[in-house]
Amino acid sequence: DYLICLEKAYPHASYITVNISSPNTKNLRALQGGDELSALLEALKNKQAQLAAAHGKYVPLAVKIAPDLDEAQIDDIAHVVKSVEMDGIIATNTTVDKSSLGSHPLAGEQGGLSGLPVREKSNQVLKLLAERIDGKLPIIGVGGIMNGADAAEKIRLGASAVQVYSGLIYRGPELIKECLAALK
Ligand SMILES: Cc1cc2nc3c(=O)[nH]c(=O)nc-3n(C[C@H](O)[C@H](O)[C@H](O)COP(=O)(O)O)c2cc1C
Repeated sequence: DYLICLEKAYPHASYITVNISSPNTKNLRALQGGDELSALLEALKNKQAQLAAAHGKYVPLAVKIAPDLDEAQIDDIAHVVKSVEMDGIIATNTTVDKSSLGSHPLAGEQGGLSGLPVREKSNQVLKLLAERIDGKLPIIGVGGIMNGADAAEKIRLGASAVQVYSGLIYRGPELIKECLAALK
């Protein structure tokens, strides 16, 4: 499936994300470990080389990880992404941990939690990951950026760029201006 999608998206994209961290696909997040991860990413990198030659353009490939990872898993991922020479890593997707919602009536809902409640978990993963990646490839920070200071914090923790999703819904395009001002 990943190879088919890569082939279809390749001619149209500026960069492509390999999403192994969606909470909505059964067992998908199991791809974030060891042998499965290196097999998947190696196959995609080989395909990328073929597609780059066929289309005469190099489209960078980033892998996107969950915020629900422990230190050993982060170690493992950092090792694999460096050894297969991924072009980037995106940290993070939504969290399945609803503990920050306390007794909120929707705390029992299935699916991933985004925005402010994922920010600290996301930042923790970003920080640990950046220490292990040690500048070898760019990290795109995402998760809980609701204002300019949140974007600046991601860069301070080791991200090279940031993405916003939920914040854009709650704050609108003004958020982008605020992030740019904070990053200056
Ligand atoms: C409704 C919704 C749909 C999403 N769909 C995807 C998706 O298809 N692929 C993906 O990699 N991430 C997806 N995400 C995760 C976001 O891209 C982002 O990583 C996450 O929400 C954390 O950032 P935020 O706090 O700025 O929303 C989705 C998030 C939300 C809220």
